[in-house]
Amino acid sequence: MPAGFAVARYNAPFPQGETIMFVAARIEAGSKSAFYDELVQQARGLLHGERDRIANAANFAALVWHALPDINWCGFYFFDGRELVVGPFQGKPACVRIALGRGVCGTAAQTRATQLVEDVDAFPGHIACDGDSRSEIVVPLVDERGALIGVWDVDSPKRARFDEDDRRGMQALCAVFVDSLRDHAQAA
Ligand code: SME
Repeated sequence: MPAGFAVARYNAPFPQGETIMFVAARIEAGSKSAFYDELVQQARGLLHGERDRIANAANFAALVWHALPDINWCGFYFFDGRELVVGPFQGKPACVRIALGRGVCGTAAQTRATQLVEDVDAFPGHIACDGDSRSEIVVPLVDERGALIGVWDVDSPKRARFDEDDRRGMQALCAVFVDSLRDHAQAA
């Protein structure tokens, strides 16, 4: 499925004050895993040199939104210490707060396991933010100390849109996002 999707290629970091320019590039991939390999590289380039969580989350969501076919929502819910609160996303306006353990997102956050839902109507407690969603994948985001950051949620209007390749690919993408938040200077 993923051969030849147009995505932007970014050259980062962008020095302050310089004109930011990106050139549309296509991911020419023969397989879904090769497609994700390329998207992971693009995410790395896009987030490189920036640690701001909102900025990186916004650009990450935009990158995935323009790269992946057959999705109607992708974005973040961040853990505020009590519950999940919606963060940067692409798609229709979404529910703002989700309790841990509730819906697909709350389940991913509570169990810290990726939720791959082939049919949202068959998932007990699924929260229908967008009535078009038929399948969904949610990846928990946990920092290097094991603390919950939030979740990354992608919805599709197609049933069974996501498979094991998507699970591996989304987890690899999320690892790039989580890593971008770290203070590498201090961590070294
Ligand atoms: N469907 C999610 C809620 C978030 S929206 O899809 C954006 C859930 O059940 O947790």
